[in-house]
Amino acid sequence: MKVEDIVDDWVASPPDLYFKLKKVIENPESSFKDIGEVILHDPALSARILKISNSPLFNPESQVETIEHALTFIGMNQLEELVLGTAEMESFKGIPVDLIDINSFWKHSIGCALGARLIAEYIHEPEKDRFYLLGILHDIGSLVIYKKAPKAAKEALELSEASSKSLFQVEAQVHGFNHAEVGAALFQAWKLPERLIEVVANHHTPLQSKNYSRDATIIHLADIISHELDLQGAGEGYAAPLDENLLKDLKLTQKDISRLKIQLKDQFEETAEVFLSSG
Ligand SMILES: [Fe+2]
Ligand SMILES: [Fe+2]
Repeated sequence: MKVEDIVDDWVASPPDLYFKLKKVIENPESSFKDIGEVILHDPALSARILKISNSPLFNPESQVETIEHALTFIGMNQLEELVLGTAEMESFKGIPVDLIDINSFWKHSIGCALGARLIAEYIHEPEKDRFYLLGILHDIGSLVIYKKAPKAAKEALELSEASSKSLFQVEAQVHGFNHAEVGAALFQAWKLPERLIEVVANHHTPLQSKNYSRDATIIHLADIISHELDLQGAGEGYAAPLDENLLKDLKLTQKDISRLKIQLKDQFEETAEVFLSSG
């Protein structure tokens, strides 16, 4: 099977709302009200935006009760990403996946998202919030594989555990491609921004990213930290250890990582429920 085949019928269902919203946001004449109206078409998303904007993630000064109010402090870029991220979580929710516990999968992804944002903040990366969506979606290719090729996926999982090799390496052996490639192919088919495609493609091999290796490194480290903290797995039995050279690239020490882990644990406990509870 080729990567294109495996994402084939997912391509038919791009996240509609994301593109609708993008159009309104890109129109210079749009007001917060116009944008809010698009969001209100989706009650579940509206509820989620309100929940998220009232959560410690944003720490608003006063209670946020309307989408318009939420929009005054959620940046437009972040809004697009938030919509895409939550829409993806929704669309995969009903999928019967026997191989992994879908809740654990998202917990790992949220852990990676929060971790990436914390690292970005720690090293003074501009616009730290842009790491959030990348963290949420970094392993999306795995969901596609679990659904489309469950037998082979099981084989890959078992092989990874038995051989103490990273899942993405074993996947290449079993499927002929890995979940990072599948995620990237999906994003490509959806015509998402190049940065998202490249970082997802290289989240296990950050130095292979041509234009976004720094972003990919941040996601890569956050992914490992999320595994190490055991914030639940994406079904990956074995996680590679932290690469000292990559830490150096970001001017981070093991001590910094220990500090970040403590912060991440706290944030994770406060935030995960907001994302995973429905409505
Ligand atoms: Fe991964
Ligand atoms: Fe991961």
